[in-house]
Amino acid sequence: MSSVVIIGAQWGDEGKGKVVDYLAQQADAVVRYSGGSNAGHTVVVDGIAYKLRLLPSGILYHGKTCVLGNGVVINPRVVLGEIKEMQDKGVDISRIAISDRAHVVFPYHERLDELQEAALGDAKIGTTKGGIGPCYMDKVARVGIRICDLMESDTFAEKLKINVAAKNDIITKIYGGEPFDYDAMLKEYLEYAEIFRQYVTDTGVVLDELFAANKKVLFEGAQATFLDIDHGTYPYVTSSNPTSGNAAVGSGVGPRFIDHVVGVVKAYTTRVGEGPFVTELFDTDGPGNYIRETAKEYGTVTGRPRRCGWLDAFMLKYSARVNSLDYLAITRLDILDGMPKIKMCVGYKIDGVEIKQIPASLKTLAKVEPVYEEFNGWMTDITGCRSFDELPENAKKYLKRIKEVAGVELGIVSVGPERNQTIVMADLL
Ligand code: GDP
Ligand code: IMO
Ligand code: MG
Repeated sequence: MSSVVIIGAQWGDEGKGKVVDYLAQQADAVVRYSGGSNAGHTVVVDGIAYKLRLLPSGILYHGKTCVLGNGVVINPRVVLGEIKEMQDKGVDISRIAISDRAHVVFPYHERLDELQEAALGDAKIGTTKGGIGPCYMDKVARVGIRICDLMESDTFAEKLKINVAAKNDIITKIYGGEPFDYDAMLKEYLEYAEIFRQYVTDTGVVLDELFAANKKVLFEGAQATFLDIDHGTYPYVTSSNPTSGNAAVGSGVGPRFIDHVVGVVKAYTTRVGEGPFVTELFDTDGPGNYIRETAKEYGTVTGRPRRCGWLDAFMLKYSARVNSLDYLAITRLDILDGMPKIKMCVGYKIDGVEIKQIPASLKTLAKVEPVYEEFNGWMTDITGCRSFDELPENAKKYLKRIKEVAGVELGIVSVGPERNQTIVMADLL
């Protein structure tokens, strides 16, 4: 048995999809354990970009079990759209397993997400408006509707009636919005239920059987450490726990089943949505803009321009601690190929004094000044490098410093979006 959790170590979009797809070559199953269709994982195979929001990134191989665990919130419209798209591209979708305990996203969650954001005005979170937060709110409030409810038409009709009435009250009376029609929603979701039925199962049992048979399992994180509801820059976070501990809870296996944790890190930093970002670059024709345009840093789901900045390696120390990181997978190093000078944040100062930990208070965090080290760039195309030794000396220096500041070994260095543009430095799975 061998299992690896792949998590985002920054604010998302680090290239988790690429790393999972690469490692999935050796895996028997890939499991999503948190988040929902707020995720957008792009996997590039032979020049074709596959944009996945709910389906695990192992889907592009034949015969790998692809699990949507109990910790995921599922918008059936989105997942069925993805299944259809995969079928049209000739991808094998017979091995999808959807947890009967996962919660279902409804149109009223999406509407509430929009209305809540609009009501916050300047204090908005900048959500993906996919209804993810409102769905997790229902889960925690114990009024949510699970996949197993959707499988029982009478239970589902009853629960949906109560939920539509309650949400319509909030939508019309608090926000002055348009109510939803219960009958139309019931009909739509009962149709989804019939297509879903073939995939629904107790996915904890599926994983237990795989482990018993000594199979290899990858847990694919969505979102990232600094978007975690507990460990992120609250309230500018998502509504679930993307950190590694939730791989067990969100998929129904015990923590002893997890062997290694890999933190995916972009060679610089991006953030989409509001909230603190210590190393953010605000220029319109300097390094920030260069990174955004070279890397095409625009949201997979929303198309929003991503905020870009220098690599904050001090954040990685925190990520290493809260996730028990064994290895780092550094992605998009090639984006820095054309930059003559590169900066890296190696510490934080407040009023000129270095601080040891990342403050919880956003007011304190706002006072932080990054401590930068400057590196000479390598000004060479590295997309053809296939080993650490082949990388230019300045790229090696940059990578070694990341490892030192984070205190975590390098496991993978990615030098392009394609599967083969990957340097492997450790036996991960
Ligand atoms: P995720 O949400 O963490 O899976 O990341 P996204 O897929 O949202 O964003 C990462 C983007 O970077 C995708 O378009 C990937 O195809 C691309 N990508 C991943 N690794 C590399 C790399 O090493 N170099 C380059 N140039 N692109 C990469
Ligand atoms: P992947 O898996 C980057 C951000 C949103 C917003 C905050 C809350 O592709 O890395 P939500 O819709 O979750 O309530 O929004 O979280 N966010 C992401 N940012 N990558 C993601 O996923 C994200 N999922 C959510 O932009 O700031
Ligand atoms: Mg993404």
